[in-house]
Amino acid sequence: MHSDYDAIVIGGGAAGLMAAIEAGKRGRRVAVLEHNDRIGRKILISGGGRCNFTNLHCRPENFICENPHFAKSALARYTPADFITLVQKHHIQYHEKTLGQLFCDRSATEIITMLESECRDAGVRIVPNCRVNALDRDEHFRVSTSTGEFTSPGIVIASGGLSIPKIGATDFGYRIARQFGHRIVSPRPALVPLLVPGYGELAGVSTEVVASASKTTFREKMLFTHRGLSGPAILQISSYLPAALSIDLQPDESIHIPKRVARAFEGQVDDIHHWIPHVTGTEGFEKAEVTAGGVDTNQLSSKTMESRLVPGLYFVGEVVDVTGHLGGFNFQWAWASGYSAGQSI
Ligand code: FDA
Repeated sequence: MHSDYDAIVIGGGAAGLMAAIEAGKRGRRVAVLEHNDRIGRKILISGGGRCNFTNLHCRPENFICENPHFAKSALARYTPADFITLVQKHHIQYHEKTLGQLFCDRSATEIITMLESECRDAGVRIVPNCRVNALDRDEHFRVSTSTGEFTSPGIVIASGGLSIPKIGATDFGYRIARQFGHRIVSPRPALVPLLVPGYGELAGVSTEVVASASKTTFREKMLFTHRGLSGPAILQISSYLPAALSIDLQPDESIHIPKRVARAFEGQVDDIHHWIPHVTGTEGFEKAEVTAGGVDTNQLSSKTMESRLVPGLYFVGEVVDVTGHLGGFNFQWAWASGYSAGQSI
């Protein structure tokens, strides 16, 4: 069977583009199929439009996965320093905001322009407005799309998770993984605000807290909203739920509890340090920054992201059961897993 491509990447987000660039640099003929009219829509809205593209303090402990060792190999292969080198090569100005989080000074668009330029240099063909409907395999893989059929001996599934359906998130990756015999760790919204009824009058108030769920704690700002709780401490701990959540509203004496909060918790002294909010749910995939769960890592090679069940089939980025903390870690996982697949395919 003749194929025009050595590798077809499904999904033109951070992970897919990195995989395509690296494979292209190795002389592979690569196409990226993207159903939006342009690549990288999530990059564009990330980090409030400035893209928190990596974190200087990236460690395996910043990632949640059923197998806590899985992400180590890819993260060591492609580090924050490697991505910073790429950003500097393209003269993109950036700054550290807080806690090692690196953001573009100007706009996330610059990251997209950089990736497009790298794709061009590596001879990668980007095919926008191309929705992949099905994937089959005989001698090669056959990709059925809204614009026709493609064949290739190598496929990278980089179609992301379920977060923010209105900009193109689909369950395509999970569907294909199941079709080829892969187990899926149940996808759930992560880095997501929580629904906690009864505190609407505090909406807009923010205070530093320690949020805990089993052995994990985050000391950061928490924000009361009309529907419940948000802010970095809550987004971080949301990825660990449904473990029981406890909040210390005054982690030390130097923290002055906002008056309105103090009033709401008056007479409930125990609650100041061990408040157990009644969480009725999350704001769901519409508001979740990422999807936790995904393709079970036990059936993937940690070095290359290739399926252990189906040679030539790779899974990268958010579709895999690896979820980063808030702060640039999810993009670092996308770059690193994409890079690893691109080196192998
Ligand atoms: P991603 O979702 O980016 O790409 C998948 C692509 O596949 C999409 O372009 C989609 O259209 C396409 N696709 C899906 N199904 C398809 C089909 N059937 N056919 C063709 N194409 C298909 N992280 C971080 O580290 N720093 C940050 O600042 C932020 N900020 C942020 C803000 C907001 C609002 C959100 C929602 C998320 C973030 N994130 C983040 C998370 C980060 O954006 C996310 O983890 C990565 O973009 C994941 O990259 P992927 O390439 O895996 O998926």
